[in-house]
Amino acid sequence: MSNPASPPAVGVLAERPPLTFPPGFLWGAATAAYQIEGAAAEGGRTPSIWDTFSHTPGRVVAGHTGDVACDHYHRLDSDVALMAELGLKSYRFSVSWSRVQPGGTGPANPEGLDFYRRLVDALLANGIEPWLTLYHWDLPQPLEDAGGWPARDTAARFADYTALVADALGDRVRYWTTLNEPWCSAFLGYGSGVHAPGRSDPGDAVRAGHHLMLGHGLAVQALRAARPDAEVGVTVNLYPVTPATDSPADADAARRIDALANRFFLDPLLRGSYPADLMADLASVTDFGHVHEGDLKTIAAPLDLVGVNYYGRHVVAAPVEGAAPEAYWRAPSCWPGSEDVRFVTRGVPVTDMDWEIDAPGLVETLRRVHEEYTDLPLYVTENGSAFVDAVVDGQVDDVDRLAYFDAHLRAAHEAISAGVPLRGYFAWSLMDNFEWAWGYTKRFGMIYVDYDSQVRIPKSSARWYAEVIRRNGLAAE
Ligand code: FCB
Repeated sequence: MSNPASPPAVGVLAERPPLTFPPGFLWGAATAAYQIEGAAAEGGRTPSIWDTFSHTPGRVVAGHTGDVACDHYHRLDSDVALMAELGLKSYRFSVSWSRVQPGGTGPANPEGLDFYRRLVDALLANGIEPWLTLYHWDLPQPLEDAGGWPARDTAARFADYTALVADALGDRVRYWTTLNEPWCSAFLGYGSGVHAPGRSDPGDAVRAGHHLMLGHGLAVQALRAARPDAEVGVTVNLYPVTPATDSPADADAARRIDALANRFFLDPLLRGSYPADLMADLASVTDFGHVHEGDLKTIAAPLDLVGVNYYGRHVVAAPVEGAAPEAYWRAPSCWPGSEDVRFVTRGVPVTDMDWEIDAPGLVETLRRVHEEYTDLPLYVTENGSAFVDAVVDGQVDDVDRLAYFDAHLRAAHEAISAGVPLRGYFAWSLMDNFEWAWGYTKRFGMIYVDYDSQVRIPKSSARWYAEVIRRNGLAAE
């Protein structure tokens, strides 16, 4: 950051000029239901796969659960007041399926819908555009018991649930996204099993991915029927995939991981087909018999926008016999058919998740979606970083997180300059929350949460982001 006492060198100034974003750029912050709401057994809510998973010993670090989380269910008004203080133009939240349709079938739960009505009304009253995600990983447990996402019927259930939410909130919510990061739901939930429901079967992971996208397509139909003028899209998590060397074997490893991580979703959603090389790579896993006539047409329903979540790059190398398996989301079983591809670390700075910081990868990712797939408006629906925070004299000076945002916003601006129709950016996250298998041990928030007292402390990054929003851009640094 610029320091008036010691002006930065001219070279630095030249490198980091002030940047202005296009008028109307949608500045937001994001959260998800299970990560912040708590009130897990209140208001008629029943368990989702994340309740079951987090209550299963050994699944989540330190046995943390989302039972209370940030207690947002009871703190909706003060949390929206904090958003208003930040000057957010939009707030991306997800609806808990188990709260609005307990058990995942049957009629809506009025009390559950009412919570989201109050949230949306509070946002609108503060001039904050609600951005609603229908599915952020929390499948009602009875639907998992009936087969979960590997079962085709779950897609139809998702469309029914979507219709209930669209009927209730369609009059006041304009921006709708169906799924958040179907790669994680499918390949971490059913492949590596590090996410709920914790199953580990490569064929199930591939089937889950397909049925998630089918559910998306059917949900788009339900949304169009309920609110023809809604802005409808989907959020995918994308990664540039780079070979570790220029050897043909490493290039092939990169092709394989790119197919599984990115094109598995982008091609059906935006082109209506699965990539031929992906299908060949997966030949030992599935014959794709789960793809029925007409599915791909449903999946490729026209959209109004695409949401991109960006957290980094995969650098990969060809298999080496006897190489040690990688951990967590790079667990071999989340890459069906390509389990032995090696993920390489480059020794560049990492976040507290050990994820390498790679802002230029955001430019590549956005350009790729625009240049290879679609002219649709794009939104960064998540981008952010975990760092260890310290509360000192009641303040949290999170310079690393602030620098991360700054670098990625500069990348977002570069993408816009290169012709990408990027219309908004949502910081992950509004506040610290339940970081899935890591529980409360990883902090991504711009607002610090003391989980004992539920006191919120806006960090330096929050104040900085408020200023970015106010000036619709970045100051010189
Ligand atoms: C994304 C998830 C989000 C959060 C961030 C750190 O994959 O969508 O809920 O966990 O990662």
